[in-house]
Amino acid sequence: MSFIVAIDGPAAAGKGTISKAVAAHFGFAHLDTGLLYRAVGAKVIAGADPIAAAQSLDPVDLEDDSLRTPQVAQAASEVAVIAEVRAALVAFQRGFAARDAGAVLDGRDIGTVICPDAHVKLFVTASAECRAKRRFQELAGKGMDVSLETVLADVKERDARDRNRDAAPLVPADDATLLDTSDLSAAQAITAAIKIVEAAR
Ligand code: C5P
Repeated sequence: MSFIVAIDGPAAAGKGTISKAVAAHFGFAHLDTGLLYRAVGAKVIAGADPIAAAQSLDPVDLEDDSLRTPQVAQAASEVAVIAEVRAALVAFQRGFAARDAGAVLDGRDIGTVICPDAHVKLFVTASAECRAKRRFQELAGKGMDVSLETVLADVKERDARDRNRDAAPLVPADDATLLDTSDLSAAQAITAAIKIVEAAR
């Protein structure tokens, strides 16, 4: 039977880094569900209808490096408020979670909506300033022309939209373990997450 780890939290809290490391440590598959919404957002920027784009999404659409830009992140959070877009992406996520080897899914609503029976639920947070700083360093490191102020404003705008929407808002599941990474290095956050998963195995 599949062992499911749900990792939710706001933008740039460290979910991606933690999820990849947890998946590698336990030999689980990993799905960054933000990529689904980013892929739909990118198609909408290119002129597509959001619901049609979500309904015809192909897993190869997720492998595009251009999905990592702040513009696509904003478009993702705009399409993510549409209930029909979310509904079109549920089956793929649940199918992924059911893989025999075990799976780590990270996103906003994994522990609350997609996999409410996940064996482990982590809610990863950090202050908006910490998250913006990390995202800024990541984007600048890739050679993108961004300022810390713009990244902070982007992160706050996306958080507000994700938290306040009607469809699957960003909120910790009642049974989630909170992990605040503000004062942790990546290595410390990974160690803490692995311990939590280990305890549930
Ligand atoms: O995680 P990432 O920052 O790549 O997600 C981009 C956007 O996709 C988020 O701001 C959020 O609006 C949306 N999203 C979502 N549910 C998920 C994953 C992402 O609504 N499970």
